[in-house]
Amino acid sequence: MSDSQLWDDVDAYFTTLLSPEDEPLQAALRDSDAEGLPRINVTPNQGKLLHLLAQVQGAHAILEIGTLGGYSTIWLGRALPADGLLISLEYNPRHADVARRNIARAGLDRVAEVRVGPALESLPQLADENPPPFDLVFIDADKANNHHYVEWALRLTHTGSLIVLDNVVRGGHVTDPTSTDPSVLGTRAALELIAEHPRLDGTAIQTVGTKGHDGFALARVLD
Ligand code: SAH
Ligand code: DHB
Ligand code: MG
Repeated sequence: MSDSQLWDDVDAYFTTLLSPEDEPLQAALRDSDAEGLPRINVTPNQGKLLHLLAQVQGAHAILEIGTLGGYSTIWLGRALPADGLLISLEYNPRHADVARRNIARAGLDRVAEVRVGPALESLPQLADENPPPFDLVFIDADKANNHHYVEWALRLTHTGSLIVLDNVVRGGHVTDPTSTDPSVLGTRAALELIAEHPRLDGTAIQTVGTKGHDGFALARVLD
């Protein structure tokens, strides 16, 4: 059996047992496929992890950077109370349209809002509105700006908030200090910021599964 077949089989077993997709989640991926969106959403067991992390945080407000078709948004939004708030930032208006439909079908349109535009423009606008501090920030957009997104996450959170940064392995090139790949540079800068910033404490974890070899970083916001 190939490694990737093995990883698929184990993900399928874990997912069937612990994080099965209901109809709104399946429909979100069906419609994302039909609309030609790339299949780069989190897996069901990763979505469930985000959901559990949001619940552990007792999250009332969640910020997501990188919506795609709203699949991770649904997992996160379902962890919120009825008066919760999820703001998800998406550059591509076509992705945002698909996401809004998927979010509405999941019954989350009262808590989850998709804002269209480059996140580095949406974030200062959001800050100007004095939103409630976000209890969890999921960063999953253009990796070149990862360090900027961690800086914005720090401004928009409170002591005890959690920052999750997706896709930190970059095919292993994350270890390469000579890389000129913008995604590698942005991710390394984000990880170095987490390492050095006095108000951040974090770790990074490699993963295997249906999306291959990858990983994520977690950072807790300190006093
Ligand atoms: N979180 C999603 C996957 C996000 S894929 C899930 O797991 O279901 C990354 C998304 O980030 C894409 O939809 C892409 O259009 C968006 N994106 C890329 N650059 C961006 C930017 N500068 N600002 C906001 N979103 C951006
Ligand atoms: C890509 C982006 C993602 O957020 C992800 O989880 C996997 C792949 C990509 O841009 O290729
Ligand atoms: Mg991702």
